[in-house]
Amino acid sequence: MVIFSGFNLIIPLKTNRKLYIETYGCQMNFSDSEIVGSIMATDGFTIVGQPNNADVIFVNTCSIRENAEQRIRKRLKEFQLLKKKNPSLVIGVLGCMAERLKSQLLEQEQIVDVIAGPDAYRDLPQLLNTLENGQKAMNVMLSTEETYADISPVKLNPGGVSAFISIMRGCQNFCSYCVVPYTRGKERSRNPNTIINEARELFDNGYREITLLGQNVNSYHWENLYFAGLLENVAQIDPRLRIRFTTSHPKNLSDELLYTIARYENICKSIHLPVQSGSTRILKHMNRKYTREEYMNRIEAIRRILPDCTISTDIICGFCSETEEDHKETLSIMQWVAFDYAFMFKYSERPDTLAARSLQDDVSEEIKARRLEEIIAMQRHLSLQSNKKDIGKNFSVLVEGTSKRSATHLFGRNSQNKVIVFPSETLKPGNYINVIVADCTAATLKGEILT
Ligand code: SAH
Ligand code: SF4
Ligand code: F3S
Repeated sequence: MVIFSGFNLIIPLKTNRKLYIETYGCQMNFSDSEIVGSIMATDGFTIVGQPNNADVIFVNTCSIRENAEQRIRKRLKEFQLLKKKNPSLVIGVLGCMAERLKSQLLEQEQIVDVIAGPDAYRDLPQLLNTLENGQKAMNVMLSTEETYADISPVKLNPGGVSAFISIMRGCQNFCSYCVVPYTRGKERSRNPNTIINEARELFDNGYREITLLGQNVNSYHWENLYFAGLLENVAQIDPRLRIRFTTSHPKNLSDELLYTIARYENICKSIHLPVQSGSTRILKHMNRKYTREEYMNRIEAIRRILPDCTISTDIICGFCSETEEDHKETLSIMQWVAFDYAFMFKYSERPDTLAARSLQDDVSEEIKARRLEEIIAMQRHLSLQSNKKDIGKNFSVLVEGTSKRSATHLFGRNSQNKVIVFPSETLKPGNYINVIVADCTAATLKGEILT
């Protein structure tokens, strides 16, 4: 249906417009896309699962490494073909790349019509309204208060058992390599009542696992309530609701928090604690605010208070001035901690960060690649060792779905966040079941239902 304005412009009615959202980057970005979905649905849009017949395409972007941005630019080229077929198609770029590049992106990528930074999503309907006559629209204002606390996110993959809740936004740690403080703005926490209500609602709708999200999740605070207190409040909703959280910064991982995790069966025994490097000299250049020994001290606290907890990490290799000695210290701390899982990256210089402004990206691509390979090989070995130790143990598994490899097998996770595959054709996603581990690879545990 169309309406005719006084100037005889043809403007489609707001209703029935279809929006497709594609998301890159971290879990916070996926959670943001659900907020965007909710704002747009309220404005009359239907959210669709693929781009072909959409009236509007939003790409929620990531700037963390150069190759993340390159991938997104390639995808924008593909959307150009859709726009050729349908010239009224609107393309919006949201998220960190929008915030980092601002109007430059409108100049570089001609097909982009709308730019919205992470704190500007309430303005999206308004931005779309200003697009007539081939104009472009942009809002990249960062806020010190926006947490979207009152917006109930729409689930873009409904019917799941696991959901994310953003509990804080922004980061002001200024690790020297990192673009996030510039793209996400100042750290701010969300009103705890809205967090607890959202968690309760998700549980009532069948969700059984919630991950509390923040770039620096354990520095959460709202008046006198700190992260340990919030975690406790969410854990008390129902013992059948599992709670996870990410990402913790080693400087904020207190013993009090570890004791809270120990007290509740449903707070999962798995901690993601990015180390980044094993060399104190490199950690100082990275502005990580802890030494190798201080990091090890936090690992010892986890081992003491939570003996069955798994520990995962993030590692960057080839940071400015990293020597062979520094690299060996990274390998040795990996071995000392015996990480169960790791995300591993080559350093990628990001324009305007502290490192880009004051340090030389002086480790060659070849050396970065070789060091990364050694780190990946070390982690593969450690993950296999960790999984082998679980053979013969039994775990309560939350069923997530059917195994990709076999229709007669289900998969789920244990509290330690390890994936377990086991034969069953009767259980459903959201069920809990006890499984005994019989075999493993470096990536997966294989088990049988304990009868
Ligand atoms: N706030 C979280 C996650 C930040 S991004 C934290 O503090 O850990 C996720 C990971 O990407 C980081 O932990 C880091 O290992 C990696 N990363 C960030 N900037 C990077 C860069 N410029 N080059 C390579 N890896 C980077
Ligand atoms: Fe980036 Fe450091 Fe903040 Fe993590 S804590 S988002 S690595 S600045
Ligand atoms: Fe990427 Fe932004 Fe997340 S840079 S990792 S999407 S906070």
